[in-house]
Amino acid sequence: MCGCASESEGPTPKPVTPSSFLDNRRSFLGALLGVGSVFVGGLLSVPLIRFALFPLIRRTTEVKRSPVGAASEFSALTEPVMRTIQIEMVDGWRKTVSEKAVYVTTDKNGQLCVLTSVCPHLGCTVPWNKEKNQFICPCHGATFTKDGSRVSGPSLRGMDTLETSVQDGQLLVRFQYFRQLVSNKEAVG
Ligand code: FES
Repeated sequence: MCGCASESEGPTPKPVTPSSFLDNRRSFLGALLGVGSVFVGGLLSVPLIRFALFPLIRRTTEVKRSPVGAASEFSALTEPVMRTIQIEMVDGWRKTVSEKAVYVTTDKNGQLCVLTSVCPHLGCTVPWNKEKNQFICPCHGATFTKDGSRVSGPSLRGMDTLETSVQDGQLLVRFQYFRQLVSNKEAVG
């Protein structure tokens, strides 16, 4: 009896044949192609996902500032002047343009200010009455001074001022709507 382990024990390594080498190569290339496709697909889908989610990510409604006219045009106002402004609203992918009348006037300190023409009572358009030197609402008779302060009538507050700025010599205004039938100015859109 010999007692030594035979060198031929254990699994016999498979011989590498040309066909198994080709199979391995094919499966490696297939895996590489799959990973590459997923990577490229992921990269391409980023802008598409951002495009689809854009209306949800950005602020719901954005109102752009509207030009009223050259600021120098209003440097020597003696009474309110009406201007029709274009209001551009962007809501998601939807853009709407509407028109609204505003008044450029001066406040109690003589500073330029812009009033919305929407009556704070029930929303009628308030005209300037040159003869009476007052704003007089045609619907229920509310009256206001030239700076928009309440004088009489059912409105619980004065006419609403709008945010303004001057850019490149142009007077810009941010149009907003305000809650009606309340004594405090409260923006609603
Ligand atoms: S809507 Fe102007 S007073 Fe009523």
